Amino acid sequence: MYKILDRDSVTEYLLSIPAVVDVLGADGTHEVAEIGDGNLNFVYKVSRTDDPARSVILKQAVPYLRMVGEEWPLGRDRMTYEIRALTLYNELVPGLVPRIYHADEEMSTLVMQCLNDHIILRLGLIAGTKYPHIGEHIGAFLADTLFRTSAFSMESQARRQLMDRFTLNAELCKLTEEFVFTFPYMEHDSNYSNPTTDAWARQHLRNNTAYKLNVLKFKELFLCKADALLHADLHTGSLMVNQAESYVIDMEFAYFGPFGFDVGKVMANFFMCATSHLHRSTDKAFVTWLLDQAFVIWNVFSEQFLQLWSQTSDSAMLMTGLLTDAELAEYKTHYMRQLLRETVGFAACSMARRTLGIAGVADVRGIEDVELRSRLEIINLQVSMLLMARHDSVDNINDVAGLIYDFYNAQPNIP
Ligand SMILES: Nc1ncnc2c1ncn2[C@@H]1O[C@H](COP(=O)(O)OP(=O)(O)O)[C@@H](O)[C@H]1O
Ligand SMILES: [Mg+2]
Repeated sequence: MYKILDRDSVTEYLLSIPAVVDVLGADGTHEVAEIGDGNLNFVYKVSRTDDPARSVILKQAVPYLRMVGEEWPLGRDRMTYEIRALTLYNELVPGLVPRIYHADEEMSTLVMQCLNDHIILRLGLIAGTKYPHIGEHIGAFLADTLFRTSAFSMESQARRQLMDRFTLNAELCKLTEEFVFTFPYMEHDSNYSNPTTDAWARQHLRNNTAYKLNVLKFKELFLCKADALLHADLHTGSLMVNQAESYVIDMEFAYFGPFGFDVGKVMANFFMCATSHLHRSTDKAFVTWLLDQAFVIWNVFSEQFLQLWSQTSDSAMLMTGLLTDAELAEYKTHYMRQLLRETVGFAACSMARRTLGIAGVADVRGIEDVELRSRLEIINLQVSMLLMARHDSVDNINDVAGLIYDFYNAQPNIP
């Protein structure tokens, strides 16, 4: 039976779970902290008073949007999809996601490994910290999770059964459809507002027919193209990292969608952070490092994706004997080029919606001075428009990198 936990009841609930007792111990006292900085759910960290490193995280969904309150109902079954995705990710990419101690779809609770020595990637990047393996880890996460839930990897019936376990994540998909692919490109009450940015957006973006029709093309892909099980909210706030390790968290938006949405979104978050470092840093070194990471993500993702593909003989999509080696090679080249183009278009959408829509990125929205913030916002909109205008003519990642480095090299540092 579902019951909303609070600071007082959470310890008793946790100590009724044997796998949690193994971590926390049944005796002694425990500290409870509510650490959810997110918008949707409650997240508790419970640790032993005498040994804080022995701790667990409990995440519980409530039947409303936490940031607004009970007047904005939102089904708590989003936790069901987070549980299902994290369970699968523990099989596909153990070591890149938290271990699960306990999951209860009825209670909408997920109890997992506490990442004690890690911080949210976005915060580390804002502070100017480099993580030497980050691009590699994100690329590997994408290749494994996306390829191995795709029709290039799975057998047809098993894949449809897996899809069936995610098709009804309807409310969160609708949030993305509206807040990522619709509202930011029109006048809408939910949008963020900053007068100089608004004026620029009205003139250059919301009046730009070609741009808006392209956004609709990507909305259609989001709605209709079921390439693989996506994380579907993979940004730098959904990663917890240190110098050696990276963990992906917060997969409540998981659904079957287009590969490029996960890949493009996370790359866009590195671009937006780079924009913020035109101001936050005194020179271009960290800006360049951030841009480099976005391209490492693509390179590692695409190499490992193709490697997994070369290890797969039969799947729902391709069977031995259908194509000659030469035909298969041509098919792969064409396929990866199209996937890159979709990635670039989704990155463009992501940058615009994080600039004009309700949910900004702290990298830029966290800057107090509105005029300064507006300069950075307009840069992000320019990058969005550049990527969207060119997405269908890039042939390889060097084409994209050329556009991006040229653009950022031409920007002055903004004190
Ligand atoms: N496994 C974990 N270990 C440590 N901290 C965590 C863990 N999971 C979540 N957190 C913390 O809780 C915050 C909110 O979690 P998140 O899953 O993003 O919730 P929401 O879906 O409500 O946004 C994260 O930003 C992070 O600071
Ligand atoms: Mg979330």
